[in-house]
Amino acid sequence: MAKLTETLAYAKLKEHKKSLDNVRISKLFELDPKRIDDFTFEFNDFLFDFSKNLINRQTLNLLIELAEEQKLPEKIEQMFNGEKLNFTEHRAVLHIALRNIENRTIKVDGWDVMPKVNSVLLKMRNFTEMIHNGFWRGFRGDRITDIVHIGIGGSDLGPRLVCDALEPYRKPNINVHFVSNVDGRDIQKVLNNLNPFRTLFIIASKSFTTQETLINANTAKEWFLRNTNASEKDISKHFVAISTNEEACRKFGIPPENMFHFWNWVGGRFSLWSAIGLVIALYIGFENFESLLEGAFLVDKHFRNTPLHQNIPVLMGLLSVWYNNFWNFNSQAIIPYDLNLRLLPDYLQQLIMESNGKRIDKEGNVVNYPTSPIIWGKVGTDCQHSFFQLLHQGTQIVPIDFLAPVEPFHSLDNHHNVLISNLIAQSEALMQGKSKEEAEIELDSTNLDPLDKIELLPHKVFPGNRPSTTIFYRRLSPKTLGSLLAFYEHRVFVEGIIWNINSFDQWGVELGKQLAKKVLQYIESKKIDDTVNPSTRKLIEYYLKNRKM
Ligand code: F6P
Repeated sequence: MAKLTETLAYAKLKEHKKSLDNVRISKLFELDPKRIDDFTFEFNDFLFDFSKNLINRQTLNLLIELAEEQKLPEKIEQMFNGEKLNFTEHRAVLHIALRNIENRTIKVDGWDVMPKVNSVLLKMRNFTEMIHNGFWRGFRGDRITDIVHIGIGGSDLGPRLVCDALEPYRKPNINVHFVSNVDGRDIQKVLNNLNPFRTLFIIASKSFTTQETLINANTAKEWFLRNTNASEKDISKHFVAISTNEEACRKFGIPPENMFHFWNWVGGRFSLWSAIGLVIALYIGFENFESLLEGAFLVDKHFRNTPLHQNIPVLMGLLSVWYNNFWNFNSQAIIPYDLNLRLLPDYLQQLIMESNGKRIDKEGNVVNYPTSPIIWGKVGTDCQHSFFQLLHQGTQIVPIDFLAPVEPFHSLDNHHNVLISNLIAQSEALMQGKSKEEAEIELDSTNLDPLDKIELLPHKVFPGNRPSTTIFYRRLSPKTLGSLLAFYEHRVFVEGIIWNINSFDQWGVELGKQLAKKVLQYIESKKIDDTVNPSTRKLIEYYLKNRKM
């Protein structure tokens, strides 16, 4: 595979970009009356409108040439066939197997993974039903009403987002709580309001070595034992674990029958479809969890079988490459006009940036081009009153994904019409902008002093031509949400292939973890090594001097 910047398509795209440098998106609609048909795609309950982007047919053709040169179709096939695309850890990348509802054989090292996947799903189904119908009770015989999910990163963000988003589908009498942060306030605030006899803790950690999760799990265990006078053996009615590490779970005191397995071919940030999603099944019911899987499965099929020109995640990924590598737009905003998706930006920050925030290519070289954009965002319309100023008139151009449901979960039609009008208006305003002439006419209609008008004029101009994609879905059902998240997962895959990096490892999070252990030793022993940097020493000393322990 050629180095990205040495591909033929890269050179062509560089050249082609020049032809778009001074073209306005609005002009592209005039130049190509079929643009709206060419750049909007319907998929089940979705409409993707890519037409307000800085692209034309030629851009797309060249981006697809680039994808072909980087062997994207072959790589997609390899992922679906269990090849070890996670090349630094020698692991397959098989989150698609977790929602392979047609039960196609998928082999890793010659073994079909599906029997194991299906048996964990069955165990999850049985457990969920036992909690819901009261067959599984606390050690004293109380029904379980509260589930505390303890995990962090990929073992938290996905389930947290899905539960929050699908709250309208929740089962009666089941509350879920999430604890991720090692900041003691996180767990304290949750535990303060719980009845331990009715509480089930799910300890979710792929490795079962993550510092934050283990500290929180131990605090939960101590709290449970202290407040119930239960014995160690009673823990089994109140603690279950989800992990690939059976030994560590056992050491913690969770017996194997209370463990839900998953495997090292599931990346943490791709794991909500695995047993990590147990809390989702408990919250919205197993049938709804299955619908979530089905939604993702439908997108997997689309990703695998659709020609690149009509392949939605491929287009999403290529667009990201186009902006990052050719326009130097190195940040992207995710703006859901849907309160149920308020956690989507947080979730996508991990999914996209932990996957593609890399600087070494497959051959071990430092890349000479930007990789992952910085992902950020917040729900509309709130953010219109915070950072939208920068989006409209700032010096940086930030491509945006707008998302919204056609049907809301409430009956306040007037609210929803206003919400959606705002979304559509923002995408239009960002694209059209306001010219000097338009601003002048507007100012002329006011009774401001003429000098004030002149002074104000440049501030009233909006450059426009700022790109966005709008994603509409009919209603945020479990199936729709499953599809939406799978679209983004595959977008990440596409980007990673074009950039020739490993989207499935995360070595960059290790150094901080190692050093945190060292610093903790200094704090606990109150002895600081001579080799410690003066700033770091000062911080530790200041902390020790002022902390009342
Ligand atoms: O933050 C690094 C990371 O390794 C993530 O990739 C992962 O999702 C998270 O920590 C939690 O890891 P685990 O599930 O092993 O506790």
